[in-house]
Amino acid sequence: MNENMNERFALAADAADPCDRAGFLIPPAPSGQAPYPETAYFAGNSLGLQPRNAAEAVRAELDEWAGRAVEGWFTAERPWARYPGLLRADAAALTGALPEEVVVMNSLTINLHLMMATFYRPAVDRTRIVIEDTAFPSDAYAVAGQASWHGLDPAATVVRLAAGDVPAYLAEHGHRVALVLLGGINYLTGELLDIPGITAAGHAAGCVVGWDLAHAAGNVPLRLHDWNVDFAVWCSYKYLNGGPGAPGGCFVHRAHLDDPSLPRLAGWWGTDERVRFEMRPELDHVASADAWQVSTPPILGLAALRVSLAAMAGTGITALRARSLRLTGYLESLLGPLSGPVELITPAAPARRGAQLSIRVTGGDAAALAERLHLRHAVLADVRRPDVIRFAPAPMYSTYHDCWRAATALATELNRDDLLHPSTL
Ligand SMILES: Cc1ncc(COP(=O)(O)O)c(C=O)c1O
Repeated sequence: MNENMNERFALAADAADPCDRAGFLIPPAPSGQAPYPETAYFAGNSLGLQPRNAAEAVRAELDEWAGRAVEGWFTAERPWARYPGLLRADAAALTGALPEEVVVMNSLTINLHLMMATFYRPAVDRTRIVIEDTAFPSDAYAVAGQASWHGLDPAATVVRLAAGDVPAYLAEHGHRVALVLLGGINYLTGELLDIPGITAAGHAAGCVVGWDLAHAAGNVPLRLHDWNVDFAVWCSYKYLNGGPGAPGGCFVHRAHLDDPSLPRLAGWWGTDERVRFEMRPELDHVASADAWQVSTPPILGLAALRVSLAAMAGTGITALRARSLRLTGYLESLLGPLSGPVELITPAAPARRGAQLSIRVTGGDAAALAERLHLRHAVLADVRRPDVIRFAPAPMYSTYHDCWRAATALATELNRDDLLHPSTL
């Protein structure tokens, strides 16, 4: 262990580099065994913690519902009919988009299908969809579903590649590729891909390029507009702290917004909001990502997300990333010297990763190890079976002391000779 493996060092770092931890509800430690009352939470890459003001924001809309009922669509303090627009500026700021390029709606995989309904247009000799070999399963299912929907054989249509092999594949076979769809940050390894570089390589080959930003939104700075990304989707329950099942986000580049003839799975929420309730038989096109909205938005979910996005945009993604680099770098410095049956599989270069560090448990049971970290030490990281444990210090609320607790808990458990025999748990 190195000299940073010292509780006083961690506490001093927290005093020097604070965050608004008080703005979040930190889960209590699960048992009386841990010396600390709060969980050291590292699963913000799966479900971010609850902002302290989320309940009040939801309560306000419940009160509007109680007090105004249907009138709330137009007369509430924040009229529900225009509620999604309240989140637009902050979502755009966090993703480097023009306001009209962003809409908050649905959840990620639904948005992915809506985007592919427009942007996956297989032609006779250009049908392929490129994804990563370690793509999140839902993305793999979605692209296979799209291939089938178009009457194509998914096995012959979907090409799964290591992310590093994508540019070379596009240079050689790009003329056969209709869509490149990659995760901006890989959910398993935490690797941050070269989003502008791969987007440019896809465009050079004539492909549409879309991104799944589930692990990137609110984690790293993005410049989706400047990078000429065609479309992107993300969820809001991870680093954006919007709550379980929070409405996700969708980006469509300005270059695609003026074309009413683009095919889409339309619905009345995609018509011009100024005439939506005139019940016109034809849809009135709007030159914004709103055009991809389909149906009535979930106001209670949007309410919690609204205050969370506002807090994050208020801090700013640049400041968040700067603290994230320091925090994750500190955790890495503590985990690096760990011995035993574990290896760090996240890229070492800070520019090639976000907040998350993933360790592969090579000689033991990852799920059993994660369970011990939780039950014995109140350190909550998550497992991606079969053998990866993910630690994500989220810069909005995670502390250096959390990192110190994770590393000391791991060191303790890895030094126990029963790790390879989880039945002794
Ligand atoms: C990388 C990635 N893509 C897609 C999804 C699926 O998101 P949703 O359930 O909101 O469709 C997740 C969920 O965790 C994810 O991590």
